[in-house]
Amino acid sequence: MRTLNASGCLDALTAPDVARSLDAFVTKTVTPSPREGNAPVRIAETDVGMLNSIGLANPGRAAFLAETLPQLRELGVPVWISVGGFAAHEYAETCSQLDDVTIELNLSCPNVEEAADTAAAIVAACRAATKLPLFAKLSPANWDISEVARAVQAAGADGLSLVNTMRGTALDESLRPRLGTPSGGLSGPALKPVALAAVYACWRATHMPIVGMGGVMTGRDALELVAVGAQDVALGTVLFRDPDAPNRVRSELAAELAALGVGDAEEVRGVAHESGIETLLSLTR
Ligand SMILES: Cc1cc2nc3c(=O)[nH]c(=O)nc-3n(C[C@H](O)[C@H](O)[C@H](O)COP(=O)(O)O)c2cc1C
Repeated sequence: MRTLNASGCLDALTAPDVARSLDAFVTKTVTPSPREGNAPVRIAETDVGMLNSIGLANPGRAAFLAETLPQLRELGVPVWISVGGFAAHEYAETCSQLDDVTIELNLSCPNVEEAADTAAAIVAACRAATKLPLFAKLSPANWDISEVARAVQAAGADGLSLVNTMRGTALDESLRPRLGTPSGGLSGPALKPVALAAVYACWRATHMPIVGMGGVMTGRDALELVAVGAQDVALGTVLFRDPDAPNRVRSELAAELAALGVGDAEEVRGVAHESGIETLLSLTR
């Protein structure tokens, strides 16, 4: 199991040591043109997690490729680039300009208007534009996410990143929205059951490599995502609280696996689809 950061949750250039503690660094989503993002307030704490309405603030493709990417390569950590856009050809143009990275297609940001093209059409355009590994990051705000997963697999995706945030609203004392926008993306502990359900359904439907994310705070959370089918796990909101989370979650996971008598997380992958850990233990005994 590799430990990654979730897109938008770590600035590798201001926290290079945290980035180096990951198995791969995932960038904030890059769009063709620069974006200032939404008006402040952009972050609000809630009882069950965090709301953000960043709105894909980023320097745009040209500045990213010329200035940010060369510095990221110097970190010595594999780089995943999160690619965004507002039409399939915009995503594809960015993909065609990349090399020696993994691409995560952000098909799911709740803070910008929906891309007009479907997830599968975007993946197909990108597949035609690059041979690099393509991970499709999907929204959990879809009643049958496994349908979308099957469609992006058929369109040529190599893997899935699950899940992005879900839309939520928080009110202040005066009963007005706390964010500068009425709603934002909900992340953190509240998202974990949503992420488990999405990974479970998509792994069952596709058996593709999956980067699981959504409310991972502990090694146990990572173990559960692997049990429903994730190959790798990404840390998002937890990094704002605990920059040492990559090392901590890894060692907690190792302790969880040792307690189960299992050497490697891969052995636990998908056990939730059988009869849980009992099946695995009876096989290994
Ligand atoms: C402040 C913030 C910014 C984010 N920016 C992006 C982004 O640019 N692209 C993207 O695909 N996901 C973005 N996300 C979503 C995360 O990558 C992740 O899918 C989500 O937060 C769930 O994981 P978590 O509960 O561990 O935070 C952002 C999340 C937060 C909290």
